[in-house]
Amino acid sequence: MAIRRVLRMGEPLLRQVAAAVTRFDAGLAALIADMDDTMRSLNGAGLAAPQIGVSLRVVIFELKDNPRYPYLTPVPYTVLVNPELTPLGDEQDEGWEGCLSVPGMRGLVPRYRRLRYRGCDAGGARIDRTVEGFHARVVQHEVDHLDGILYPQRVRDLRNFGFEDALTGQMTPMPD
Ligand code: NI
Repeated sequence: MAIRRVLRMGEPLLRQVAAAVTRFDAGLAALIADMDDTMRSLNGAGLAAPQIGVSLRVVIFELKDNPRYPYLTPVPYTVLVNPELTPLGDEQDEGWEGCLSVPGMRGLVPRYRRLRYRGCDAGGARIDRTVEGFHARVVQHEVDHLDGILYPQRVRDLRNFGFEDALTGQMTPMPD
């Protein structure tokens, strides 16, 4: 498989609403393998198919135990196809997000603290989970990509958006 180029904010495909997956075939498996290779090569915590130029509703995410982020609970490797999110409660948390499509930047983004997500894995088996914290955040970030939304659009106060190296000491970063 292959490491693919990651599209950057401004490229039109990142603003499109991605299409649902209808076939769980070899083409889907190849797409997911490329997403895996690309995410791992960049030490990302998540990636959506549109970020490698494929406008389909597929996201992947994973957070291993990482000494850079000791305050985050690990998230199991997950492939999520045709996701549906249901927030549980109104509570939101603010967190400093980054994105492989917005390299070098960080922004403070509100996300629902708890949510239920449903969808399918790479083979079409149903996934149904209730999660919170960073796990809930990464799912919301990745699913936003499928609706053409990048996290800077969610930053409420643009004073809380800037270059990661300029913000050192002013924030608690999350992985891209
Ligand atoms: Ni992103």
